[in-house]
Amino acid sequence: MSRPACAARSREGSAAPLGAAVVPALMLLLACGACSTAAFGAGADGGAGPAKPRAEEPLPVPLGTGVIPADAVCRDPEAGPEARARDLLARMTLEEKVGQMTQVAREYLLGAEEDIGIYGLGSLLSGGGSGPRTNTPAAWADMYDRYQRAALRSRLGIPMIYGVDAVHGNNNVRGSTIFPHNIGLGAAGDPALVREAARVTAIEVAATGVDWTFAPCVAPPRDIRWGRTYEGYSEDPALAGLLGEAAVRGFQEGSAADSILATAKHFLGDGGTAGGKDRGDTRVDEATLRALFLAPYLPSLEAGVGSVMVSFSSWNGQPMHQNRYLITEVLKGELGFEGIVVSDWAGVREAPGDPVTQVKLAIDAGIDLVMVPDDYKGFIDTLLGLVRSGEVPMERIDDAALRILETKFRIGLFERPWAERSLLDSVGSPEHRAVARQAVRASQVLLKDEGFLPLPRTGRILLAGSAADNVGLQCGGWTLTWQGVSGNAVPGTSLLEALREVGGPGVELVLVEDPEAIGALRREGDLAIVASGERPYAEGQGDDGVLAFRPADLEYLRAFEATGVPALTVLFSGRPLIIGEALESSRAFVAGFLPGSEAGGLADLLFGDAPFTGRLPYTWPASVDAVPLQSTTSGPGVLFPRGWGLDG
Ligand code: BGC
Repeated sequence: MSRPACAARSREGSAAPLGAAVVPALMLLLACGACSTAAFGAGADGGAGPAKPRAEEPLPVPLGTGVIPADAVCRDPEAGPEARARDLLARMTLEEKVGQMTQVAREYLLGAEEDIGIYGLGSLLSGGGSGPRTNTPAAWADMYDRYQRAALRSRLGIPMIYGVDAVHGNNNVRGSTIFPHNIGLGAAGDPALVREAARVTAIEVAATGVDWTFAPCVAPPRDIRWGRTYEGYSEDPALAGLLGEAAVRGFQEGSAADSILATAKHFLGDGGTAGGKDRGDTRVDEATLRALFLAPYLPSLEAGVGSVMVSFSSWNGQPMHQNRYLITEVLKGELGFEGIVVSDWAGVREAPGDPVTQVKLAIDAGIDLVMVPDDYKGFIDTLLGLVRSGEVPMERIDDAALRILETKFRIGLFERPWAERSLLDSVGSPEHRAVARQAVRASQVLLKDEGFLPLPRTGRILLAGSAADNVGLQCGGWTLTWQGVSGNAVPGTSLLEALREVGGPGVELVLVEDPEAIGALRREGDLAIVASGERPYAEGQGDDGVLAFRPADLEYLRAFEATGVPALTVLFSGRPLIIGEALESSRAFVAGFLPGSEAGGLADLLFGDAPFTGRLPYTWPASVDAVPLQSTTSGPGVLFPRGWGLDG
């Protein structure tokens, strides 16, 4: 029996293959009921049902349900995380331990929030775009606190830990500061900047109560046809490792109040799949796997990254969610990782086998926390059955639960279970946006300039193209929704606004919306900018075997060339595209990647207020036939080698 399509993934634009979980009839109804209201933006703000506290109800406290004696070690902050976790573990039933190993996506708890306490769920998450109906930082904090209350009503009063994909800022939350995606930070190549961006992100996440980000992605994507190329810093494993470590430090440093747990992902080989296929197969020998894909994890592990997420992909045909050798022997054994190994979204169920075998193999492989994310009752039943029949050893359950509890103690969740509302004002603050603007300045790569730049501060600029006034295209996927949004729904500064602001009163900006209008519009001395944007996408929905420059934007370039208006192209994209003719038709060309909400940083460079310093983190191919391609020197198929970038 297969799960209903609507339960496969709640996220907007969902196209997940169906798993084969056996779902009890009641659960089916429950899951579908959730789905019907759980598309992006839907969901209860106030949360109906018993989890909502009455005004006079005192706030529950961790371990405060009266079950644990006052002098228990787990209550004593002086005892240290490990001793506290061991003491607590010894007081737990099998059901409670398995509950800790269960992570549920919030939309599957609609109307059933009391289940957090009833099942003692260890963790909740918001997948891309899932949040309170009113998408404000304060509403997120309210939502978090509501779930935490339900968790603290469990028999032992163990707090839940909440995770989100804050992959370029706290990107689910409207009004947060949106940083360049990792590809842009790779172009900047500056660990201190990445660390500062992660620090800011941690503060904006902590403000909403959320404890944990599923970032950074430390994959070095080796085939730019992969839809997740922009989530990787660089095709170069050394740069991916260095910047990943900086992000981990930025997320996890600071006080218990304003730091968050980081995740190095996706373990292992996600960036090496054949053909750049998302969730595909990485076909390399072990030495290559280690050199290219394991190496970037080492600095993050050294920096104490709190969790590692398992990859949807396979290694030589074996799904990573069932790879005991790499997860248990290499990661936990050889590399001594003591944090949480979390599965990917329904990743356990995507691997082969019947539902019972899938859970058995995944837990046996070393996964500690299962991002179920929907049918938690089915998962819990299955795992309990496997333990009771002896097919999953109790030691494995204890190991998993201990890691989860120890992490919760380590990050101070038992002492500070509530949202840090004192940080709410900092979300999207001018100070935070200034850091993002600096990151944008550092991330832009000038590919070509035939005496076009800097822009003068007098005269007319004709601005055209899909991304001329479109913050959504600047941001790409994982922004407000899983797949991102086109248009100006993301609070921030579009290129048009940024050019106006930085150019000042002497610059007349004319937005051109039809290439055919250019002939009549143009005047002597005009300059043109064509801002082209790749459509927003995330994960497999961004897999692309063509990598075309947007044809409609090419029409503008042709029209400017035909009418003798010199043009600069700015390309906002999640990877190099095939730009041959666009490059030829442009007097200057900027690879902007996905800069996020602060286009002011790009305008600063265009007007010469700051120099271009970005360098390509990926090889730029001349044609799609040349992909996959990695090269630091020019050669066949190479339009620009990795490391290329003009100073301007
Ligand atoms: C992605 C992960 C992400 C998770 C939770 C998955 O589809 O592969 O990178 O952390 O969803 O949203």
